[in-house]
Amino acid sequence: MDQFVVSGGARLRGVVQVAGAKNSVLKLMAAALLAEGTTVLTNCPAIEDLPLMADVLRGLGCTVAIEGDVVTIDTPAELSHVADFPAVSRLRASVAVLGPLMGRLRQARVALPGGDAIGNRPLDMHQNGLRLLGATMTIEHGHVVGSASELRGAQIELEFPSVGATENLLMAACLARGVTVIENAAREPEIVDLAVMLTSMGARITGAGTSTVTIEGVRGLTPTTHRTVGDRVVGGTWAYAAAITRGDITVHGVNPAHLAAPLERLVRAGARITSGEDWFTVVMDRRPRAVDFITLPFPGFPTDLQPIALALAAVADGHSFVTENVFEARFKFLDELVRMGADARTDGHHASLNGRETLSSAPVWATDIRAGAGLVLAGLVADGDTVVNDAWHIDRGYPRFVEDLVSLGATVVRRAAPER
Ligand code: UD1
Repeated sequence: MDQFVVSGGARLRGVVQVAGAKNSVLKLMAAALLAEGTTVLTNCPAIEDLPLMADVLRGLGCTVAIEGDVVTIDTPAELSHVADFPAVSRLRASVAVLGPLMGRLRQARVALPGGDAIGNRPLDMHQNGLRLLGATMTIEHGHVVGSASELRGAQIELEFPSVGATENLLMAACLARGVTVIENAAREPEIVDLAVMLTSMGARITGAGTSTVTIEGVRGLTPTTHRTVGDRVVGGTWAYAAAITRGDITVHGVNPAHLAAPLERLVRAGARITSGEDWFTVVMDRRPRAVDFITLPFPGFPTDLQPIALALAAVADGHSFVTENVFEARFKFLDELVRMGADARTDGHHASLNGRETLSSAPVWATDIRAGAGLVLAGLVADGDTVVNDAWHIDRGYPRFVEDLVSLGATVVRRAAPER
């Protein structure tokens, strides 16, 4: 088990290149199941979750090669419909194979990954949507099991704009008979990325990126080559790293429009931001002002940047009031920040922080990917050396994190945790 040792005090300055989005590439890999033949994905991030998803696809019969930032998936004519443990248990996003398997094979048996530290992640909306398309869906012995004689287009209204449900239903509906309309669909840039790839495979989709997505089913899809959209969460992490350390960071590879809400909060906190089509620069030359925020589905403030923004709130000038609307358990991260001297309290899905001039280094534990990144940012503005344990969480979502931090002037070392 690795840990990161983060020395406080550096002002981060320089340029970082951000790779493709974790939350996109794992679904794009699943989409490759929809078409027999060779799918090529470029701009793929070197994160731990990617080979895990490759294992899930191999379990279904695909051949997968990962070379640099290119993932090549050969999907056979005959696919298995069973995605089982152990590959699936290590990766929540593996549930994204459900929609493609239902679309292509009309049957699926997908093991349910265990609970997640950020809160409950039920699949009721995925299952209800597939039922409306004509499938029978059950949970049996730790698996979600679906079967259908045929899938027929339907009107589906989601209770909440779930990213995962929108993606699964979008992929299944591409090969359903007739027209499917998903209302209250998620509008995240990763949905648009998936729709762009599916369209280049021959799917007929309109409205991706809006609340109403319409899919006209087609008989079959053909494989394609697709470039993964830049990772807005990683880009946002660097934006907040610049602000928290009173630094100056230029981020390449991310569309700033995908980060409109978090960048707007940084401007209110006192940052100067300049940007182009796929880059932006954040300069902060003062102590950040406290800013309130509420997490919401896109285009609202992303829940994935909440721990990163809380690290900033912990050292901002003034009081911040934060509301978490997407994953209820995410404030667990604040216990670790409090261990570093943050003045914070929670009440249900609200948190209240009084910013401190500086934090106090401490041993802390990453509980998920974004909490881990938030702790690294907090360590950058703590006195002394902060040891972030369970750094494997960070490796699941941040390629070359330590290398990039060092290139920006931070003192961060990866080391093996001492034996207990
Ligand atoms: C994805 C992202 C995750 C991000 C989240 C919200 C991936 C791999 N993960 O997760 O990083 O934080 O979007 O932007 O892309 N829900 C239900 N029933 C369902 C489905 C969801 O109640 O059937 C609830 C969830 O418990 C949660 C909320 O809906 O409270 C949002 O979940 P969802 O948008 O589905 O998130 P994921 O797709 O799991």
